[in-house]
Amino acid sequence: MSATRSILITGGAGFIGSHVVRRFVTKYPQYRIINLDALTYAGNLENLRDVERAANYMFVKCDIRDADGLKAAFAEHTPDGVIHLAAESHVDRSITDPMAFVTTNVIGTVTLLNAAREAWKSSFDGKRFYHVSTDEVYGSLHDGGFFTEETPYDPQSPYSASKAASDHFVRAYGNTYKLPFVLSNCSNNYGSHHFPEKLIPLMINNIRNSKPLPVYGKGENVRDWLWVEDHASAIDAVFHKGANGETYNIGGHNEWKNLDLVHLLCRIMDQKLGRAEGESAKLITYVTDRAGHDLRYAIDAGKIERELGWKPSITFEAGLERTVDWYLANTVWLDHVTSGAYRSYYEGQYTHR
Ligand code: NAD
Ligand code: TYD
Repeated sequence: MSATRSILITGGAGFIGSHVVRRFVTKYPQYRIINLDALTYAGNLENLRDVERAANYMFVKCDIRDADGLKAAFAEHTPDGVIHLAAESHVDRSITDPMAFVTTNVIGTVTLLNAAREAWKSSFDGKRFYHVSTDEVYGSLHDGGFFTEETPYDPQSPYSASKAASDHFVRAYGNTYKLPFVLSNCSNNYGSHHFPEKLIPLMINNIRNSKPLPVYGKGENVRDWLWVEDHASAIDAVFHKGANGETYNIGGHNEWKNLDLVHLLCRIMDQKLGRAEGESAKLITYVTDRAGHDLRYAIDAGKIERELGWKPSITFEAGLERTVDWYLANTVWLDHVTSGAYRSYYEGQYTHR
């Protein structure tokens, strides 16, 4: 079958990117999906084992800061769409090493914008640059209220500042060069294949291994959690149906205080592991708070629901149970990630076409 579209997905070996790649490869066999990823510590081709041999999938190892590499990838694969997820994504790492966030999230995004603009310069017709961003660009909510698409940017961490800068560049390219784009800002994701440095997989892994559960500060910070496959379905909707130049907020209407969430995970894991009720919660340990820790994020996802008909498909309870089941059934994946063994997996894989 000759491909009807060719789509370059950056960061496809990461957590959310791997779900987006899987969705597009399996749902759209008529598309060619090119996963472009530098395979940093967060990139793991084991995430894509089930689709890596699909006829419409290929992997290109490339850093988005490498202008020549991007130029070659655009020339070889002639994508008409880009879904850009590659980023440094962990707030704690952005506090210890902000420059990595500037170079990948800001300079890398601009390098990718330049590559798309150059490759598409004969005509922007039928082209689309989709930038995947975060609700953290809006800053921290301290009382009621929600982030809407009109909320002024007020990033508070090096991570969110770098994502905000990248969002501004995407809009600036739309305004200045008329590069066709869409953008979305999503709340915290959870689900399978999530690197266990982030709250939910870290807690699941530590509960499994009876290790301390580090709760920052008093555990009162609030996050709005969305199942990663619902984010992938929202990305599908925005990519195909979003209006040019528009932004869509994506969220699950699902706010949880960290401490309540950790207790819920402990209860689920006690049941799954056959432990006495309350046993895992004894592992909770309060640790020094994150510097400049944002208090609350909460998304108003009304626009994407009204205009594109998107809604989350499952409840948090169902999504969390599936997630815990996945980690317990995939302890080899978890052990490879925590031991670093996953890093050698790609060597036999990345030349696969
Ligand atoms: P992740 O850290 O799991 O994966 C990032 C991927 O990008 C990895 O595969 C990594 O190898 C790749 N990458 C990093 N630097 C690169 C570079 N210089 N060149 C090429 N590839 C590079 O991240 P994630 O949680 O899947 O997030 C994906 C995107 O979604 C990010 O842009 C993030 O800002 C955004 N986002 C994440 C969340 C969340 O809850 N995780 C929520 C909203 C938005
Ligand atoms: P995280 O998963 O890092 O996502 P983000 O900071 O982008 O929201 O953290 C989610 C929340 O959990 C955040 O308020 C910080 C807190 N947290 C802990 O309390 N302990 C931990 O070990 C981690 C990783 C996070």
